[in-house]
Amino acid sequence: MNKNIGFESLCAKEAKEIRTTKPHQLPIYAASTFQFDSIEESMAVFTGEKQGDIYSRFGNPTINAVADKIAKMEAHGADFEAFGFLLSSGMAAISTLLFSTLQPGDKVLTQGNLYGGTTDLLLKVLGPLQIETIITDLKNLDEVEGILQKEPAVKMIYFETPANPTLDCLPLREISAVAKRHNCITVADNTFCTPYLQQPMLHGVDFVLHSTTKYLNGHGNSVAGALVGREDHALKSKIFQNIKLIGTNCNSWDAWLINNGMKTLAIRLDKHTENATKLAQYLENHEQVIRVNYPGLASHPDYDLAKAQMRKSGGMLSFELKGGLEAGKKFMNSLQFCTLAPTLGDVDTLILHPASMSHINVDPEIRNKVGITDGLIRVSTGIERIEDIIADIEQAIG
Ligand SMILES: Cc1ncc(COP(=O)(O)O)c(C=O)c1O
Repeated sequence: MNKNIGFESLCAKEAKEIRTTKPHQLPIYAASTFQFDSIEESMAVFTGEKQGDIYSRFGNPTINAVADKIAKMEAHGADFEAFGFLLSSGMAAISTLLFSTLQPGDKVLTQGNLYGGTTDLLLKVLGPLQIETIITDLKNLDEVEGILQKEPAVKMIYFETPANPTLDCLPLREISAVAKRHNCITVADNTFCTPYLQQPMLHGVDFVLHSTTKYLNGHGNSVAGALVGREDHALKSKIFQNIKLIGTNCNSWDAWLINNGMKTLAIRLDKHTENATKLAQYLENHEQVIRVNYPGLASHPDYDLAKAQMRKSGGMLSFELKGGLEAGKKFMNSLQFCTLAPTLGDVDTLILHPASMSHINVDPEIRNKVGITDGLIRVSTGIERIEDIIADIEQAIG
């Protein structure tokens, strides 16, 4: 550059080329755009002839590195490669996939106990666009088969396993097989498990979604989502097109935070599982507790299924207190060590009373149908010393 440039130009231009060093940690690319050496290079990148970065709404080295890592985790040990995209939230991942795969007139088959935001997205946003949602018990495979035979417009089966709040599990392999017979796409929200505990694509599921806000990040300091599919899936380029056009991609800062969090994913989930198992066993023997929902307990209806398709049973559990709504509210107000908060998957223990928090505006009759009873408490078991968690829960039960 000319040494005699003006002061204003010196302020406005980048100081110097620093991309010759090799940082040990992933750098945050805080650049909205990327420059080209020539118009020929620009043409090659824009036409896809050459790989390269253009504009951060399309991705950038920080965002892409994290998306690729999640894709590799989901396909770890598989005989196929996966692609991954990192989105601005779990809901952005879900909505981008739905908008990329469904047309007016199509129908989605799903379960009643999905994350509430997803149910609302299906009913309140896709419904008015003539994309109808059918809710059924996805565990009942005969029922699923029957619906798919009767309703050729069903183009997608969308599910979560284990699902809130009863930690019910769905048979991934069997649902994928039924869907394939009817040319239906399968989508699993794997937020509760992460690929360390469960890899739905290894059981035949087409697309996997995450709210990375939860366990993948693990530290409660970023909101983002991920979308993973097989590298050779015909819809990959359409999904990428829609991320660019709807503008749902993640930013570098959140990607970087997820990257930090993921480095300890395996040891965190080992500890989450160890603590949740001890807590579930303690609660199962408590006289004020009617029922404990934890797939790692032999008493859970899906214990064998969970064992077959999950590496470990994870950190999420729920239990039902005797005394209903009042007992639930009293318990929540008595907590001193655990945190009363609606999210999950952080390193510290987070407790939710759905009837007075996340589901307070849902008709009790509808809540009860999916197992959200008045005395139900959901625990995202942290990695603290288990004795401290149990002592707080014990004193709060009273
Ligand atoms: C299972 C599940 N999926 C998706 C979401 C939505 O994720 P986000 O809040 O990152 O948009 C949530 C949020 O709680 C969730 O629990």
